[in-house]
Amino acid sequence: MSYKAFINIKQLLQVEKGTPKLKVSGTEMNTLPLINNAYLVTHHDIIVDFGEMIDFQNNNYDIIDCSGKIISPTWYDSHTHIVYAGNREQEFVDRINGLSYEEIANNGGGILNSAKKLQNTSEDDLYQQSAKRLEEVIALGTGGVEIKSGYGLTVEAELKMLRVIKRLKENYPLPIKATFLGAHAVPQQFKNNKQGYLDLICNQMLPKIAEENLAEYIDIFCETGYFSVADTEQILVAGKKHNLTPKIHVNQFTSIGGIQKGIEHNALTVDHLEILSDEDLEALKKSETMPVALPSCSYFLSIPYTPARAIIDNGLALALATDYNPGSTPSGNMNFVVSTACIKMKMTPEEAINAATINGAYAMGISDTHGSIAKNKKANFIITKPINSYNVIPYAFGTNNIECVYINGEPTT
Ligand code: NIG
Ligand code: FE
Repeated sequence: MSYKAFINIKQLLQVEKGTPKLKVSGTEMNTLPLINNAYLVTHHDIIVDFGEMIDFQNNNYDIIDCSGKIISPTWYDSHTHIVYAGNREQEFVDRINGLSYEEIANNGGGILNSAKKLQNTSEDDLYQQSAKRLEEVIALGTGGVEIKSGYGLTVEAELKMLRVIKRLKENYPLPIKATFLGAHAVPQQFKNNKQGYLDLICNQMLPKIAEENLAEYIDIFCETGYFSVADTEQILVAGKKHNLTPKIHVNQFTSIGGIQKGIEHNALTVDHLEILSDEDLEALKKSETMPVALPSCSYFLSIPYTPARAIIDNGLALALATDYNPGSTPSGNMNFVVSTACIKMKMTPEEAINAATINGAYAMGISDTHGSIAKNKKANFIITKPINSYNVIPYAFGTNNIECVYINGEPTT
């Protein structure tokens, strides 16, 4: 029997009865459409029906009783670096003892430290380490994930990372998007020849990636001390030749015009935005580019939080993601992200849940099929433990209130 009916659901969140929206922006984000005492019916991997319990008719479905529990679409984590080798816990201790993230990077730590580890790790080992992280985040409610390269920094190692992402796509049921982030840091051997490294990316890495169809998106760390706005222009133009859409790291520490450059090239997203000027906000208002905030990164590095209130109060959309990586965010927990967005960024629970579901799906280019409870969308959803209301999800930070995660209509545990 391939029909399943989830019944007596205390609150069914993010329901869309009419034509589904691709994203929600501004004041709209403060509304979370829901049905109290609801049912939901799936057929194979698709949502086929939902409504109020009084209207439920049992057509010999497999019944799953959800009394006291809430169902939400899964989280869509549109910014991660979960393919990496080993950890950087020593740098964490170094920061506690007074070194800054920047000082650690300048001493050969940071991204270059991860690159060295990854270059010396076999593809199989890298796959095993990454698969473990992917399974961990699925259990925490993530039903779609974007994964970046960028810890390889050689032709061979960047391809190794992207091939690992491809294997994850083949072996796991959730949607995975691959982003090529060759321009994450300038490797040691190009220390005095950044243009040489940019040429390597454009002339050697990109054609191979396109040939093997290894990425959908292109990224660059556009930041003082890493890559300039002019470098960003070069990389985005080269990416476009291979049909790669930009999703870029900008405004983490400084505002240098990266947002405007991304918008000019129709970036799907601009991510980080801890430092955001009025000009940046104005530029975003004239675009369809989704701003993405990464509050776990701000928490871990003790840097400012992305000004969510300014973004949303200016009528813009906002997505939330983890940034799961070994240096700035060793956590892939979207529940913590949603909580931290409420606690530290003053987002309402409704705004945070919208930002982590439908807007997260938009930031992965899949909100036409994922990110809300709508007929014909994929049956990717979280069933919580019995809880009082959806406000408990951000309120009870650090508590795992997830009972079960369904992907394509099937329980993952
Ligand atoms: O998104 N900001 C650039 N890249 C990663 C962190 C890199 C690292 O420290 O390994 C980020 O925070
Ligand atoms: Fe990142």
